[in-house]
Amino acid sequence: MGVMHIPGHDRQKPREVSLDEIRDVMGDCRLCPLYETRTKIVFGVGNPQARVMFVGEAPGRNEDLQGEPFVGRAGENLNSILALAGLKREDIYIANVLKCRPPGNRNPRPEEVLACSPFLREQIRSIWPDIIVTLGNPATHFVLKTEIGITKLRGRFHQMGHFVVMPTFHPAAALRNPAWQELLEQDFRMLGDYLARHPKDGSVIPATAHSDALPRVEE
Ligand code: URA
Repeated sequence: MGVMHIPGHDRQKPREVSLDEIRDVMGDCRLCPLYETRTKIVFGVGNPQARVMFVGEAPGRNEDLQGEPFVGRAGENLNSILALAGLKREDIYIANVLKCRPPGNRNPRPEEVLACSPFLREQIRSIWPDIIVTLGNPATHFVLKTEIGITKLRGRFHQMGHFVVMPTFHPAAALRNPAWQELLEQDFRMLGDYLARHPKDGSVIPATAHSDALPRVEE
């Protein structure tokens, strides 16, 4: 795992398309039937120059009402564990695979992901983060182009063209499972270690005696 490439993603930032332009193109999107039941499109929020981009599944009830990702209980959990990675909400960008809430929070359908994912792809290209954190299976499957489950993929970093990808449990799922919450927190500490060892200027701080605890980036 971890050596697959998105064609075209293993090169320099391709072109400048702003998040506003992408949002404009999306307009009052009706590319899939979810427009019929949504309250608001949940496009994404955060720092357009974020080093770390988080990708969730789809808006829930609170997100649908407010038009912002991760503002409900899952968002509270995410906010509280960000500090474990030395991050604040304003440092990061967050978007979902689906921009509209599936009724009753059911799982995204393949045709919905197909219709909606070009927007996420463009958001990733616009932000061009160093690291993409995928929260849960749908986001992980979309970004890593695999069907392997999150429990097998989490706990390490995967190289995907330009991007380092860290799959981990969804913060909503972790709220229902204390063992997953512990592993989620462990992954966020691993992310913090990675960020500390890879400063923005591109240099790499060598592993220390504690290297066993440091993340492996799979090539
Ligand atoms: N769960 C998600 O995957 N995304 C949100 O925005 C909220 C909950």
